[in-house]
Amino acid sequence: MECKIAVIRGDGIGPEIIDAAIGCLDAVARRFGHTFRYSFPPMGGAAIDATGVPLPQETIDDCLRSDAVLLGAVGGPKWDNLAGHLRPEKGLLNLRSALGLYANVRPAVLYDQLRAGSPLKPAIAKKGVNIMVVRELTGGIYFGPRGYRDGKNGQEAYDTEVYSIAEIERVAKIAFDIAMGRRKKVTSIDKSNVLETGRLWRATVNKVAKSYPDVRVEHMLVDNCAMQLVKEPSQFDVMLCPNMFGDILTDEAAMITGSIGLLPSSSLGATKLGLYEPIHGSAPDIAGQDIANPIATILAAAMMLSSSFSLIQETTAVERAVNVILDKGYRTLDISETGNKKVSCSKMGELIALEILNS
Ligand code: IPM
Ligand code: MG
Repeated sequence: MECKIAVIRGDGIGPEIIDAAIGCLDAVARRFGHTFRYSFPPMGGAAIDATGVPLPQETIDDCLRSDAVLLGAVGGPKWDNLAGHLRPEKGLLNLRSALGLYANVRPAVLYDQLRAGSPLKPAIAKKGVNIMVVRELTGGIYFGPRGYRDGKNGQEAYDTEVYSIAEIERVAKIAFDIAMGRRKKVTSIDKSNVLETGRLWRATVNKVAKSYPDVRVEHMLVDNCAMQLVKEPSQFDVMLCPNMFGDILTDEAAMITGSIGLLPSSSLGATKLGLYEPIHGSAPDIAGQDIANPIATILAAAMMLSSSFSLIQETTAVERAVNVILDKGYRTLDISETGNKKVSCSKMGELIALEILNS
């Protein structure tokens, strides 16, 4: 198979983790006889430095001409003082919107090898964590009307949460479809005791649920969910969230697995063109030191192989290689404990790539 992949290295540790992931994709190509052609369009801080804007039109066009997009991470203190519409993060938000990627799928899995690294009490961790968060990605307060205005106490800023029934329906369907292939439970998150959008969210999810009689649907207020995630995370199978609640809860879900450096995500829309990225950020504090954990990006590349290219055997080979290397005790700094073999970002990438080649 021949595939064209738009690779956005991004800022901070982005280039390092992307290099490791490309090493693994090249290993897949050699081992299974595929050709992956890469382009490297700029986005985020790197694009601001090169072109003055966080998302040049050529980058959007390049992504639209590609079969999939692989992204490192964007942002950093260097660009923190720019106006909102010029920040690196705005590049990512506009790219999600331009590519129509309305559903962000984020697995939070507690790996057996890393159980000791979870901040959960052992009795809770023992029950396991295997949650698939489906986050709405192109609506809600992230994209509603915003601005500054004169209020009765002087200048004020505002952001607005807006959701249409159609936006809720399409992302809910993705959550229910995913649940059908898992433990058949959807927990839908909202703030329906306060927000009008929350009430519409809940009513719409109930309507969609009627087409999935085999899936159990449960509704949970977002504040309660934040608590339940640390109290009893094993109760969750698929979690369906509006944009901002999903942003917040996925950081929490990742943290309880003790492995934010291990978790990938995919953003999907109406077409096969998906965007794949680690769920962590650009970690500017450790950039350029070759100590970041590339596994989340490598697993994001694996998600790309299955979701965008339907290469199932190849996906399994990457996931297996990651497990073998963890089983052998290799760890990057973030997940390292005494007794482990501590390795750099690039070394971790090489070990996994070699394991793929030898599989
Ligand atoms: C994420 C990030 C982004 C978001 C930022 C970088 C814009 O936190 O993907 O979770 O808020 O969606
Ligand atoms: Mg986030």
